[in-house]
Amino acid sequence: MSEKKKFTHDVIERSVGLMIVLTLLTVSVGGLVEIVPLFFQKSTTQAIDRQGNPLDIKPYPALELTGRDIYVREGCYNCHSQMIRPFRAETERYGHYSVAGEFIYDRPFQWGSKRTGPDLHRVGGRYSDEWHRVHLINPRAVVPESNMPAFPWLERPIRAVDMRTIETKMERLRMLGHPYTDEQIARARADLEGKTEMDALIAYLQGLGTALSNFK
Ligand code: HEC
Repeated sequence: MSEKKKFTHDVIERSVGLMIVLTLLTVSVGGLVEIVPLFFQKSTTQAIDRQGNPLDIKPYPALELTGRDIYVREGCYNCHSQMIRPFRAETERYGHYSVAGEFIYDRPFQWGSKRTGPDLHRVGGRYSDEWHRVHLINPRAVVPESNMPAFPWLERPIRAVDMRTIETKMERLRMLGHPYTDEQIARARADLEGKTEMDALIAYLQGLGTALSNFK
């Protein structure tokens, strides 16, 4: 054995400083390699499917946008994900797996990983509006074994504060790149007039996951 100290793993393990520096270096290289390309891939930044075909996807109309905020307010995401994974067990049950381009107008997206209830990404069009209404007022009325909570208060009209802020909300989203027209923003309040929170939430649910309908 030579007296000269060789540079082995021992050296790193005995020096906390060196260990930290090398760990950070390794993690950053790993992170950069995985994350940076995502900013430049069309499949994650544009509304296209995995084959590069454009998706028929538009920013949420005023009523659906309001419904989406109610979905977030009521914490539906605590029990429902909106992300179908590319596995047979999931695609057989829910439909085509989710692709990144479908979420470009979702801020923040509702992917989630907690599934007390089923995934909702392709629930749009699966049930009638009336089914949703009955289900949201009392889930047990249509699914006897359901442990989903009831949301009967959604039958009230859309709150005044949400009516007042809808135009600003859409304008801010437009600043972030959602292509709303002046006309859509101008008639936003009228679109919500006389509607209940239930109408808004159901409109949102019925639009979910329908952009990829050419695959169904
Ligand atoms: C405590 C958990 C929980 C919460 C919170 C919850 N759900 Fe559910 N949800 C479930 C369960 C469990 C089911 C399956 C049984 C059923 O259909 O009622 C379900 C089913 C559904 C379904 C039917 C899906 C399908 O494919 O059959 C819809 C739509 C739905 N929930 C919407 C909502 C909305 C909208 C909210 C928020 C207002 C919400 N849920 C909040 C647990 C929850």
